[in-house]
Amino acid sequence: MMPDTTRQADFDPDVPEDFDSPHAMFKDLRRRCPVAYSEAMGGFWAVTKYADIVRVLTDWQTFTTTIQNVVPRVATTQRRPPLHLDPPGNVPYRNAITRLMTPSKLKPWRARIEKEVDQLLAPLLERGEGDICRDFSFILPIAVLADFFRLPADNARRIRIVGSEFNMALQRRDDENVRKYSDELYCLARDLIEDRKVRPQDPEIDPISSLLAVRIDGEALPDAMILGALRQFLMVGIVAPTTFIGSAVVHLARHPEHHTLLKSDESLIPDAVEEMLRLYTPYRGFARTARRDVQFGDKLVREGDVVAAVFTSGNRDEDVFNDPDEFDLNRRKRDLLTFGRGPHMCPGAPLARLLLEVAIEGIVRRTRRIEIAGEITMTNWPEYGPLAVPIRIIP
Ligand code: HEM
Repeated sequence: MMPDTTRQADFDPDVPEDFDSPHAMFKDLRRRCPVAYSEAMGGFWAVTKYADIVRVLTDWQTFTTTIQNVVPRVATTQRRPPLHLDPPGNVPYRNAITRLMTPSKLKPWRARIEKEVDQLLAPLLERGEGDICRDFSFILPIAVLADFFRLPADNARRIRIVGSEFNMALQRRDDENVRKYSDELYCLARDLIEDRKVRPQDPEIDPISSLLAVRIDGEALPDAMILGALRQFLMVGIVAPTTFIGSAVVHLARHPEHHTLLKSDESLIPDAVEEMLRLYTPYRGFARTARRDVQFGDKLVREGDVVAAVFTSGNRDEDVFNDPDEFDLNRRKRDLLTFGRGPHMCPGAPLARLLLEVAIEGIVRRTRRIEIAGEITMTNWPEYGPLAVPIRIIP
């Protein structure tokens, strides 16, 4: 067969979506057109099959992250390692936080996250209703990350406000405010770095001091890159847990039998979170740019084309997962793409998993049933998941 060098508009990523429709769209694309082109958002290929996603993420010599790494492209311009550097450049920045994510270093975090979850859930439980996104999942990850990065109280308050405004601006594709709040995050990161230079902390527990302590051939990392890395660390871990917790609560409301099961046996919660991370994968638009022409079946991806690895689709690929749309706690294979794959695979995954487990455990433990009490508002590319889930709580 001759290669298809024409770019047809295979799908429209801008169609209005509901909680289920993206999964139906990706199922259709996996069957009909697994490497699909869209002219929207500057033009990009959506790679929807598990094996192709792994190929894009692991062949970093062909698919670089240095040009565009998210669809749609974010309005800010500066370079933020590790995500914006190909290996081996990204490695020292990753190592600065992975060394703080060992099981023993994360152990004390369970109790700290539990406390935060309790405080946030208390008013919701008292009222018996609210919005799990606005009242809980927009706040919890920022609070935990502020704590993890050991922000002083006034900076933590600032990042809670700026972080959630930035998050909302991203979701609304409001470029002007994305730039404005990104600049504020840069200022905040700059202040923190200056503070640590004057008052160094233990690099074995403090991520900023850990970044400052990195030496390559005796040289510290460049100041501008340390700044970019901290700016990335402060935000990259916030968006996904925000929408994911909303999805998990929609699942519990739709499946009261799963809610009851998890309540009766909390030891199932880690497996349940993994299965929900597969079903409701919060990132779908992390991207690479092709460095040369590459053939995918009958599709020719040209040098310079942007390729989105649609994790949300790959995690429901019927070639990899039996009955992929089913919530199955006994899955033998649960090799998730949720945290990516290859040289940029999420270094924050251990903290993220702990945060999500504690959050879902807190919700399940303190409620008997949850009902959806209004319209679910959804995010769009590059994420998947709700921005608003009005709920009624049966305590
Ligand atoms: C549910 C929560 C999370 C999800 C689903 C998630 C997912 C991901 C994914 C898919 C990537 C790879 C992107 C790519 O290959 O282009 C990534 C990278 C990254 N994540 Fe996460 N993440 C989460 C939470 C966190 C947290 C809590 C942190 C920090 C404490 C974090 C820090 C990072 C960093 C620094 C990178 C870039 C790594 C590199 O480029 O080498 N993430 N994440």
